[in-house]
Amino acid sequence: MLIAQISDIHIASQGKKTYNIAPMAENLMRTVDHINKLKPIPDVVIVTGDIAMDALEDQVERAARILDKLQMPYYVVPGNHDDRSTLWSVMGKKACPAMPSGFINFVVDDYDVRLIAIDSTSPGAPGGKICNTRAAWLDAQLAQNTKKPTVIFMHHPPVKCGVLETDEDGFEGVERFANIVDKYTNIEHIICGHIHLQANVRWHGTVVSTAPSTGMELVLDLTLKRESEFLLEDPGYQLHFWTPQNDLVTHTVYVREIDGPYLFEDYPG
Ligand SMILES: [Fe+2]
Ligand SMILES: [Fe+2]
Repeated sequence: MLIAQISDIHIASQGKKTYNIAPMAENLMRTVDHINKLKPIPDVVIVTGDIAMDALEDQVERAARILDKLQMPYYVVPGNHDDRSTLWSVMGKKACPAMPSGFINFVVDDYDVRLIAIDSTSPGAPGGKICNTRAAWLDAQLAQNTKKPTVIFMHHPPVKCGVLETDEDGFEGVERFANIVDKYTNIEHIICGHIHLQANVRWHGTVVSTAPSTGMELVLDLTLKRESEFLLEDPGYQLHFWTPQNDLVTHTVYVREIDGPYLFEDYPG
């Protein structure tokens, strides 16, 4: 099974660039085209939030028009730049099979790896949140199958990743969430976005990983002192490969012109 993850696509309104500088719609088109040409082609694509730049309906519609070109099913969860009811009403049951009222939480159980989407957003706040309702829902879903390899996907990582801009956003209810995760040994990965950088960290018996953005990379500054800055980068995305040996291996892919490939044997020594 192959899962492609794209994140933080931040689509601006038609005719506009994100922050007036980042060509995010064009970047998403390039990313979709790249994914459609992969061999093997991914079984499913998950989009881990910040679909729109300003939570606007026309921005989500623009994103959906591009994402609809994917040749495989795709699923979305909201980020802090999204409005969950707008996201649900535009994306509908296909990409967002959650209840129309309430949180965008859902389970996809069509593949070798079970996918659980959880809504980590808190309206009006940039940070993450898992409240009692969401924690109880997650616990109930995990309890339904304690053996099948499972991936949880959400926008906010529950861990501070050494990125000042997003670490300061915080995550309300992180202990509540950790207490649920601690109960289950079949959570292969918790797959997130939000930090616009690729990172991995061991967390409560599983791995939390974050995806790059499709073109707006945060400047990495592990001194945690610098003003927040971003770079215009080629779009990046993640491939989570469930191997024949039953390991979930994550590769980061960048959509850009690359010189090669070269055969090792043609260049001895
Ligand atoms: Fe973002
Ligand atoms: Fe975000």
